Amino acid sequence: VIHFVGARVLVTGGLGFIGSNLVHLLSRESDAQVTVLDSLGEGMGGNRRSLDGVARAPRVTVADMADRDATAAIVRGQDYIFNLAGHVSHTAAMDAPLRDAHSNYCAHVTLLESCRRANRHARIVFASTRQVYGRARSLPMSEDHPLDPIDVNGTHKLAAERLHAHYHRVHGIRTVTLRLTNTYGPRQLIRNGQQGFIAWFIRRALDGDELEVFGDGQDLRGMVHVDDATRALCAAASLDVPPGTVFNIDGERAYTIERLAQMVTTAAGGGRYRKIAMPPAWQAIHVGSAVLDATRFRTATEWGERVALEDGLRRTLAFYRRERVHYV
Ligand SMILES: NC(=O)c1ccc[n+]([C@@H]2O[C@H](COP(=O)([O-])OP(=O)(O)OC[C@H]3O[C@@H](n4cnc5c(N)ncnc54)[C@H](O)[C@@H]3O)[C@@H](O)[C@H]2O)c1
Repeated sequence: VIHFVGARVLVTGGLGFIGSNLVHLLSRESDAQVTVLDSLGEGMGGNRRSLDGVARAPRVTVADMADRDATAAIVRGQDYIFNLAGHVSHTAAMDAPLRDAHSNYCAHVTLLESCRRANRHARIVFASTRQVYGRARSLPMSEDHPLDPIDVNGTHKLAAERLHAHYHRVHGIRTVTLRLTNTYGPRQLIRNGQQGFIAWFIRRALDGDELEVFGDGQDLRGMVHVDDATRALCAAASLDVPPGTVFNIDGERAYTIERLAQMVTTAAGGGRYRKIAMPPAWQAIHVGSAVLDATRFRTATEWGERVALEDGLRRTLAFYRRERVHYV
């Protein structure tokens, strides 16, 4: 699956949820020399514990990717860059848009500029989000669906996608963007509701607390286990695609939020959920149902979902039963 023979690989955001899982995969299934760049930014998902047990320890630099000197030094000589640094909370982005712009846009200008100056040979895979589509006009959404983000986070992520395309077209730095759906699995912080609703359901179920489903719970969501997301990132790294190419990544089937709540409580061996009115901060940026069509990526690569939701939830709960103390 993984072809990084002798390669030098940088993972930005590599102490975060998806990034650390990618580091585990690379160190287990390739002989790549892995470097991590992560700011361990406050309120974000970075956690040194996430590299615990890694097969081969990566070199880790704790620095802000917007720091030109640190980033220029680190990109030099890298063959692949998985650009996963970012801030994921949609409500936090509404409260602190400049902070979101810093992590989801400005820091990426620095990364790409550093590559332009010091390493045009690197191939970059950028992790974007389904949020760039905004409210679905039809389901599932293909890559050709109109782009109309309705919140700050989605707006900055879309700008960063376009920036990657620009550096590809104008400066010849090969970039490709994956628009990830809601991703879940081990090594995601479950401290509060900021890292995503799946993680928060898992936390509540783990603690025996009632899960809260906002609104009627009938919105559909695609979901992907982080092992499938990291395999997709690896598969994307060696694609030769024109500038501006984007791919959706989503699971094979979608579930309503209410169904997810039922599945989480079942996987946890019991528990309850109730429906509550959607808090105003969420209401303002509520996209409704969001399901991506990942056919383009499945056709371009050999990637496909391997971890179905039920199994993924069981495995995730088992992880947090052991590791809860490090992630809350
Ligand atoms: N988790 C999801 O469901 C999901 C869905 C779609 C897209 N994504 C994207 O995937 C990427 C990774 O998400 P995640 O869930 O692993 O988030 P995360 O918060 O767990 O990890 C992100 C990491 O990036 C680091 N970081 C943030 N700003 C930085 C900066 N300026 N310099 C250096 N490091 C910085 C943080 O410290 C953190 O460790 C993000 O770009 C996110 O937008 C995630």
